[in-house]
Amino acid sequence: MDEKLTITTERKKLNYENKLILAPMVRIGTLPMRLLALDYGADIVYTEELIDWKLLRSFRRENDVLGTIDYVDKTDGTVTFRTCSKERDKVVLQIGTCDATRALKVAKMVEQDIAGIDLNMGCPKLFSLVGKMGAALLKEPEIAVNILKTLVDNLSISVTCKIRVLPDLDKTIELCKLLQSTGIAAIAIHGRTVDERPQHANRNDVLKEISKKLSIPVIANGGSKEIQKYSDIFKFKEITGCSSVMLARAAEWNCSIFSKEGLLPMEDVIKSYLKYAVDCDNPPSNTKYCIQNILREQQESPLGRKFLNSQTLEQICDVWNLNDYCCLKRKEFEEKGLLGRSQVSPMKEDEKQDEEQPSNKRKISEEEDVILMHYAFLRNNYMTDVELPKTILHKWTQTQKKKMPTYNTRQKGKLFRSIVTVDGRKYGSSFWEKNKKWAEQGAALVCLFSLGLINEKTFVSNSNVLS
Ligand SMILES: Cc1cc2nc3c(=O)[nH]c(=O)nc-3n(C[C@H](O)[C@H](O)[C@H](O)COP(=O)(O)O)c2cc1C
Repeated sequence: MDEKLTITTERKKLNYENKLILAPMVRIGTLPMRLLALDYGADIVYTEELIDWKLLRSFRRENDVLGTIDYVDKTDGTVTFRTCSKERDKVVLQIGTCDATRALKVAKMVEQDIAGIDLNMGCPKLFSLVGKMGAALLKEPEIAVNILKTLVDNLSISVTCKIRVLPDLDKTIELCKLLQSTGIAAIAIHGRTVDERPQHANRNDVLKEISKKLSIPVIANGGSKEIQKYSDIFKFKEITGCSSVMLARAAEWNCSIFSKEGLLPMEDVIKSYLKYAVDCDNPPSNTKYCIQNILREQQESPLGRKFLNSQTLEQICDVWNLNDYCCLKRKEFEEKGLLGRSQVSPMKEDEKQDEEQPSNKRKISEEEDVILMHYAFLRNNYMTDVELPKTILHKWTQTQKKKMPTYNTRQKGKLFRSIVTVDGRKYGSSFWEKNKKWAEQGAALVCLFSLGLINEKTFVSNSNVLS
């Protein structure tokens, strides 16, 4: 992470033949996991899906303390995308979009910091479908073609897309040929249809037929259930006849699947991941989520329970005896003047917060024993009411058989702040909202982040926890 970024105008295009690839995964594919995957042997690493408008409202900032490049959301100061020179020639940013102009704007903004850009054409989530993104593009191939062609014609980096197979083989081949005609460098194919779930068998025979018919590299995806060890990756490659293999869940569970030397014990993987999380000043909620997905059923063990009770990076590190590492790094960062994870950009005069605003986002105010963060509740982030922080929190307390959250709101002039009590703990945002409803939503948001129930970056709820 200490290497300095060198910007060259001449870009070598990514080669997608015979590559092991970390798949795009929301919340999992952030910088620490990508760096870990590269260490273990992945050749190319995809980011989690990043939505175009979220990137467009971010600005680029070189973070000299961490040695990273950050794209920071102008509205709330959160880091939308963090990358560094170590992955620059290997990282592919996956974009969620339905619009060629917006896609190109985003791609131009990040082009200098990445090796490739990928269009998500497979996400079956309602959020994507309603926004005409992800798998919705499988039904509107002309929009996808326009986006891909616009990107190919105007970028110096590689362009790819990731699709799911259609129920009909001939139609899938027809679609792939159409996408190939845009000049994309490769195509990643998940061998399940939009309606199929992970428990359904991956259509490896369909992947084989497609790979025979295309001239560009086909990246086989969907094989994690068949891949328990390194050599299984190559069996999957052979069965599908594809050029390369892309792994999601197998890497999420144990990223050392990419290692020629064989799988490492879970504890070693967690420790290496945690070191990168500290090095990257990764948000604790995201760090916790990734480790939860490595631990899986081990969360029930005494160590797992200690981990689940942790909230800060320091506390998480303590579980794996990495507190010295964490403290040393944090001290080093503070001395170098690390900016808080959520340094909010200048606000309009009437939105200015008072002196109670914490200098960095996460702060525990000792007197009140309130877990306090600086979050504005942005109504536009939520498409439907079920996604609202209060609704998610309410549902979570119900499923966990805990007492319903209680809100205590105070007013100062025309502004409001609220504190929510959940399971005996208090949470609040230091951001003064314009009405009581939003203040309560802000407090619920802080609670959800603190409990690791939603994604700090994309505000996507953790359905595993809620279901
Ligand atoms: C936690 C998680 C998050 C995912 N997020 C994305 C995403 O952001 N973009 C995408 O194209 N696919 C996403 N996927 C789908 C995977 O990339 C992949 O297509 C799917 O899991 C099948 O591959 P596998 O058998 O290797 O897991 C996600 C999958 C998981 C498990």
